Amino acid sequence: MRSDGSDPIREAARLLADRRNAVALTGAGISVESGIPSFRGAQGMWAKYDPMEYATIHSFMHSPRKVWEMLSEMVSVCGGAMPNAAHKGLAALEEMGVVRAVITQNVDGLHQAAGSRRVIEYHGNLDELICVYCWKRYPTLERWIPGAVPLCDCGEILKPNVVLFGEPIPWLAQEQAEEEARTCGVLVVVGTSAQVSPACDIPRIAKESGAAVVEINPEETSLSGNVIDIHLRGSASKVIGRLIERLKETDDVSPGH
Ligand code: OAD
Repeated sequence: MRSDGSDPIREAARLLADRRNAVALTGAGISVESGIPSFRGAQGMWAKYDPMEYATIHSFMHSPRKVWEMLSEMVSVCGGAMPNAAHKGLAALEEMGVVRAVITQNVDGLHQAAGSRRVIEYHGNLDELICVYCWKRYPTLERWIPGAVPLCDCGEILKPNVVLFGEPIPWLAQEQAEEEARTCGVLVVVGTSAQVSPACDIPRIAKESGAAVVEINPEETSLSGNVIDIHLRGSASKVIGRLIERLKETDDVSPGH
């Protein structure tokens, strides 16, 4: 509840119910409650691993074994993680006909595990390894074992099929994400600091195309003061849970609508 007595959850639920064709843009914050660390901040991956040394395509091409120290941690943490109430909440909102797609910067596959059907993976997925020399692909679990670097049949060290700094966004994902942003009625931005380009342009594209932009984040972000129409402060699981409760009280939203 705000100091003027208005309730931002109620306002956001009203927007979602009225406009229906919402799209979610998610970042690492949505998976924190699944035990996966985010990137920025004191507990984030980049406090432990300098991204310029561990997360660029340049560093992978020059020192793949070093980059795999960080990648191994990501693969094993993400491999053991389960979707949390926020991932499941977004899948439920899709089922209710409120959210039509999730654009995610995450590479953990937890939206699909929670049951979301239309997921656009903007930065790829850790499930697959690719050889940057002969382009052969493998399921990660087929080639990766903890403590060793995974090798291609051609002998080169494999790279997870995720976007490292300096690599382009997969063409289809970028096209689809921009189309969703241009045509949605509400963009719900969950758990991203919106500091990485071009993903951070998605909220602006949605806004300029007429969408309302709702942010779910316990903190302020670079979007909060300008692009965002409603900031719902709190953890993704709690806020999405409260949004769903409110929507269920609204007559015109029902499961399978
Ligand atoms: P960041 O680590 O930059 O930001 C995570 C955001 O989640 C922050 O704004 C937190 O306040 C918020 N947050 C933390 N806990 C939360 C919770 N329980 N519920 C909701 N929000 C919470 O992660 P991203 O913005 O996803 O890319 O980072 C974007 C990209 O930077 C990543 O995809 C990755 C990284 O470098 C590449 O490596 C190419």
